[in-house]
Amino acid sequence: MALAGRFPQAWLDELRDRADIVQVVSRYVQLTPKGGRYWGLCPFHGEKTASFSVNPQRQMYYCFGCHAGGSAINFVMEMEHLEFRDAVKLLAEQVHMDLPEMVGGREDVVSRSEKERLYEANRQCARFFHSQLWKPENAQVLDYLHGRGVDDPTIRVFGLGSTPARSDGATRELLSQGFTEDELVSAGISVRREGRIYDMFRQRAIFPIIDAQGHVLGFGGRSLGDAKPKYLNTGDTPVFNKRLGVFAANLLKKQRGLRRVILVEGYMDVVALVQCGVVGVCATLGTALTLEQARLLKRYAPEIWVSYDGDAAGQHAILRALDIFDQEGVRARVLDFPDGMDPDEFIRAKGLSGFEALEPMDATTYRMKQEMNNFDLSTQEGRTAYAIACSKHLAKVREPVELENHVKRLMVATGFTREVLLAQIGRTEMIEKERQPMYRHAARPLEEKNEGVDTETAAAEKRLLQLLSEGRVEAGTVTADDFISPERRALAEKLLGGMTPGAILEEMTDETQRARAASVLMQDSGARGEEDLRMTGDCLRILHKKRIDERIAALQQEMAQQRGEDKRSTLLKIQELMKERQTAGRKE
Ligand code: CTP
Ligand code: MN
Repeated sequence: MALAGRFPQAWLDELRDRADIVQVVSRYVQLTPKGGRYWGLCPFHGEKTASFSVNPQRQMYYCFGCHAGGSAINFVMEMEHLEFRDAVKLLAEQVHMDLPEMVGGREDVVSRSEKERLYEANRQCARFFHSQLWKPENAQVLDYLHGRGVDDPTIRVFGLGSTPARSDGATRELLSQGFTEDELVSAGISVRREGRIYDMFRQRAIFPIIDAQGHVLGFGGRSLGDAKPKYLNTGDTPVFNKRLGVFAANLLKKQRGLRRVILVEGYMDVVALVQCGVVGVCATLGTALTLEQARLLKRYAPEIWVSYDGDAAGQHAILRALDIFDQEGVRARVLDFPDGMDPDEFIRAKGLSGFEALEPMDATTYRMKQEMNNFDLSTQEGRTAYAIACSKHLAKVREPVELENHVKRLMVATGFTREVLLAQIGRTEMIEKERQPMYRHAARPLEEKNEGVDTETAAAEKRLLQLLSEGRVEAGTVTADDFISPERRALAEKLLGGMTPGAILEEMTDETQRARAASVLMQDSGARGEEDLRMTGDCLRILHKKRIDERIAALQQEMAQQRGEDKRSTLLKIQELMKERQTAGRKE
């Protein structure tokens, strides 16, 4: 869960240092040393020959195949599906570093050890509920679950449980284990009423909510019949915020290489799908999808299939979820269940094969289908309004071939011609826009935007950055101002400021930019022995010449507009620059 503030930079530096990227990566990838660095099979894309490399001195990794790159912290984020903050905590734990005071934010109200106590209380409580399920006096809960088709192995997979017969059974049990009343109230396990303390959950089947690290965060309790509320959930506590997590994150985490995550609405939907053999399923915790959840889910698979209930509320929630996924740049599709069924009902009726036969619908098709409910397509007015509404959705479709399919359908539905629809969509502008890389795990493109830098200068700048990364540049020889490309100048500034390549990459949230920087910072300058001085000089001369060329070109343009004395003086300036250019080209 989120702490306020940021980690201090010096502390992070020490963490990266102590954690040692080679050791961190070695826990997941078999590395072989070669040429001052380590090589292995890339864990981020399938490959048979090693193109994944770790450079301990630069504290970074980089895959020459898929261009994934970053620091030890980035690596743990990717492998463990963690947010930055949690990856940092995990690494800190492994190297026994205490978490620092956060900068720029108030310190968490609840300290780490207090949180650990609450996790532990929740864990013990979950064990207690689970053990209660098998007791004769709680048979009606077990019967309820069996009655809903949940078998015993599935009950164990999810650690489902029962509340005890006594109204303070869980509270007493945990007090006897040494937890305090305050702790139990704080964890949402117990409530105080009229000076007495009771269990929060009574006469319910219990669904423990467990995060990817195995912490029990809280519980959902299903009433056994029609008693209200149908579900009672742990409220916000110091260790639980239902907006940040999903149900069954612990199971999700165990699935590697998922093609898609199936996102459902309810606890029972997850349980039923998993029991029937569907993998990669989780549920939001009884709220509309949040950005935080979308961000969390995209770590597990390149696509999310939204599989909400087939009723009107579910359909509405799907549209909102699709917007959230769009905002987060996650590719989402929709599994549409017939006759208002929810996934639980559907898979019980049609079985795994019926479920697998469902075709996920892409987001745009789904949106267009839903728009149909808003217009009367039997009138020209309705068809026109429908075409306009759909065009807004279609304006976001990047792939021309996909767009073509949608447009064809829209032509049939509305009777408008292709040209008219494309004009309404604003197709020309859309196609010229650069395609943004949106999806994780796709190879990250490296091509540069045209920054007015030609290949020779780009090569020189890259070479200089590599020399800087290798610590082969004498202090004062190179400054950030020697760089022409703003992006590489920024990199130079940071290297000159003493940051390691790994730390620099870690700051970059834009994946394409990070991939581009990683590819430069990971490569060797190739300088051997004494060569570095000469190489540095060569690069600087190329850049110097380039800057003179740019000035000459600007003056030449100016001169074209001038006459008489002005023209003569500009010409003189150009001649001087030409001379300077020759000297610049000569080696000292
Ligand atoms: N929910 C909740 N509180 C409620 C109702 C629902 O927290 N009073 C959440 C639960 O997480 C529930 C999900 O919303 O699993 C979906 O609700 P719903 O479709 O009504 O429940 P089902 O999953 O179909 O539950 P069941 O099959 O047990 O009736
Ligand atoms: Mn439902």
